[in-house]
Amino acid sequence: MKSLGGSAHALVDMQLGEISRELFVNQDLYREEQERIFARAWLYVGHESQVKAPGDFFTSKMGEESVILTRDRAGKLHVFLNTCRHRGMKVCRYDQGNTKNFICPYHGWSFATDGKLVGVNDYQAAYQPPFDRDQWGLVEVAQLKVFRGTVWATWDPQAPSFEDYMGEAMFALDKGFAPWDGGDGQTELLGVPQKWIIPSNWKFVAENFSCDVLHTVSHRSVDMVGIGPSVGEGRRDPMGRQLVTSYPGGHGCLYGIWPTETPRQDYAGSAETAAYFQDCWQRRIKRMGKQAGIIPVVGTMFPNMSFHAQQPRTILVAHPRGPLETELWRVYFVDKDAPLAVKRYLRSYYLRYSGPAGMTEQDDMENWNYASAASLGTVSRRYPYHYKAGLRAGGASDDVPGRVTENPVTTEQNPRGLYKRWADYMDAPDWTALCAAQEQP
Ligand code: FES
Ligand SMILES: [Fe+2]
Repeated sequence: MKSLGGSAHALVDMQLGEISRELFVNQDLYREEQERIFARAWLYVGHESQVKAPGDFFTSKMGEESVILTRDRAGKLHVFLNTCRHRGMKVCRYDQGNTKNFICPYHGWSFATDGKLVGVNDYQAAYQPPFDRDQWGLVEVAQLKVFRGTVWATWDPQAPSFEDYMGEAMFALDKGFAPWDGGDGQTELLGVPQKWIIPSNWKFVAENFSCDVLHTVSHRSVDMVGIGPSVGEGRRDPMGRQLVTSYPGGHGCLYGIWPTETPRQDYAGSAETAAYFQDCWQRRIKRMGKQAGIIPVVGTMFPNMSFHAQQPRTILVAHPRGPLETELWRVYFVDKDAPLAVKRYLRSYYLRYSGPAGMTEQDDMENWNYASAASLGTVSRRYPYHYKAGLRAGGASDDVPGRVTENPVTTEQNPRGLYKRWADYMDAPDWTALCAAQEQP
C-alpha cells in the first residue's frame, strides 16, 4: 500500500465525508481485503432450506473461495473449504445435490459429509506413519451460526459470537427473516440462486443496499411504470415512515414503519395473494402489536450480505473477484406455508424487480459499471467520492435500535458507517483492536 499514503483510515475521511477512489479500483487494497476482512468477518453462506436432508449440499462462496455447505449423516450442518487436502482439487464441482461422500476426481481421496477423510487409494500399502488420516479432513470454518434459516460462518476462531458481531443489527435480521405473519413458521428459497458477474467493486453493491437513499432518482422510470405488487403504485407497496439506521459494526438498513391501524392495500393484481397477505398482516398485528409495522426494507450486513425484507424478500451476496469484478448471487425467499399460487405470483414480481433482468437491478448495475470505469484513470483517481449528506444528522429513536435519521432521510450515514468499519478491519491487527475501534463514537 506504499502509494496510498499510509493507513486505511487515511482513505476514509469521516469528518469531511470523503472516500478515496482507491477503495474501488486498487489491486493492493483488494488483496489486503481478502486477508483482513473476508478471512475474519462473519459471512453469509446459504439458507437452511438448501440443505434439508442428511447428505444435502450446496456449494457457496466465502470471499473468493469456494465452500461446501452440507448436512452430515447425523443431521449436523458444516461449511468446508472446497479443496482437496491432497493436491488442492475442487472436491465438489456441482452447485447442489445429495451425496454420501465427496470423491476427489484427481487421485480419488474421498471425504464424508462430516469432512473426515475416509478413503485413500492404497492406504495400507503406500503410506506409513506419520500420515494420519484424521489430520487430513476437509478444512472447516471456525464458527457457524444458523439464524432464522440463514447460515453464516467465519474462518476466524477469535471472532466474536455472531450475536456480538451483529450487535443491535440483530434487530434487523430478526425482523427481516421472520415469517410474514410473525409466527414460528419457516422461510424457504424460491428456486436456485441467480448468479452473474459485474465489472465493479463489491463495495458499490454493499453501500447501495446499506441504504443509499439518494440513488432512488435512478429508479424513476421504474417507479413511473409501476412494477410493484400494488398496480400503479410504483415499484413496491407504498411505504409508511422511513428510518435510515446504521450500526457500529458497519451494518446499515432502511426500516419502513407501516401503520397498523389501517388495512394494507397490497397485491392489487391478484385477489388470492391479496387475501393471503391481508390474513398474514392481521395475524402479525395480533402477535406483535405496534412492532408489526416495523419492517427492514433493505440493508447490508457488513461486509457483503444485502437483503430486502419488505416485498421483495431477497438476499444478495456480492462475492469479490477482483478490484473491478464482483460475482452477484441473488436468492428470493418466501414463507414455506404460503399457497403455491402466492409463491408463483411473488416469483414473477421478484424477477421483474431484481436479478440480472430485474428492472431495478439493471438501473443499479449501470451506475456501478460506469462509475467504476470512470474512476480508473490516473487523474480521476486523485479525486475522492462525496459522502457528505446528513453528516451531522442521526440520533437515537424510540422505534428501532441504532443511529437513526428520519425526516428527511437524505443521509449517507450508512455508506459512511460501512467505510469506517472497512478502515477498522484494514488497520486493526486483531479482534481486540477491532472491538475497541467499534466502541468509539
Ligand atoms: S488432489 Fe484430491 S486426491 Fe489428489
Ligand atoms: Fe437501487
